[in-house]
Amino acid sequence: MPRVIDLEEAAPIDFGDFIAALDDSRFDPRDEESFVAVAPLLKRLAANRSFLADLAVAELKDRCARQDEANGYTPQVLMLHRASEAYFIRANFWPGPRDPIFKASGPGPFFYHVPHDHNFSFLTVGYFGPGYWSDYYEYDRSDVVGYPGEKVDLRFVERARLEQGKVMLYRAHRDVHLQLPADEMSISINIMESDPALNFADQFRFDVAKCEIAGMLNVTSTEALLALAANFPDGNARDLVEDFAAGHPCARIRFTALRELAAAEPDIDDGLEILARGERSPEPLIARLSAAEAERLRANRGWLERAL
Ligand SMILES: [Fe+2]
Repeated sequence: MPRVIDLEEAAPIDFGDFIAALDDSRFDPRDEESFVAVAPLLKRLAANRSFLADLAVAELKDRCARQDEANGYTPQVLMLHRASEAYFIRANFWPGPRDPIFKASGPGPFFYHVPHDHNFSFLTVGYFGPGYWSDYYEYDRSDVVGYPGEKVDLRFVERARLEQGKVMLYRAHRDVHLQLPADEMSISINIMESDPALNFADQFRFDVAKCEIAGMLNVTSTEALLALAANFPDGNARDLVEDFAAGHPCARIRFTALRELAAAEPDIDDGLEILARGERSPEPLIARLSAAEAERLRANRGWLERAL
């Protein structure tokens, strides 16, 4: 489970001073011990009981202009600071079952009951309310290829909640949690690892009953654009998709390019031939996903040929 960092109660810190101290500390979010070293700062921020409300009011007075600019999340998240390439600070709202937004939306939009890992590390502190619950698991990413249906050695650790003032470090590609609703509206504050390359690192959804990967959670716009490019009317963008299939640094993107090239073929057998290239790939993820896609094409051949 995430690394719990035990800290004494600490004096509150202003938000501006918190950011300045983080920047001065040469904080490196790729280093677990660097996260641990800044944990006392986050604890001090949690002791500041007014800064979040002040920031929220300031945002409202400015018609949430900064949120429009810097916040790509759902309304569950308030972006607090995004000046550095290396990290950003956010607040997350965790409604409880009695809250109107929960009654209106159900648990889905808040990521409750969706067991997942993270493709980034982050430090979190409970800021308000009793805190969300989690069933915590661990796994070893280096033992995993990463395809849906793959068995994973998922080890249950415990059920716990992120209480006010509790500081935890979620480690990328290791800690898995099945989040459960907070008993009452709660808020956590995170220091998040930020790196454009994280878009290409897989984040998984798990089936904890079967100890399997149930799917991938992160999808980039590159994948949607590859589908469009492969189907560009005069074939002008097909060479681009071929380039992605041959040389993109991310195996998932290389497979997606192959899949879209295959899907754009009017003849199913030509598509299967393209997928056979993927099945022969030395990269296990591409080989597995290509085989599964070829199987799907074969299984649906009759329907597809009628549609084409
Ligand atoms: Fe999570």
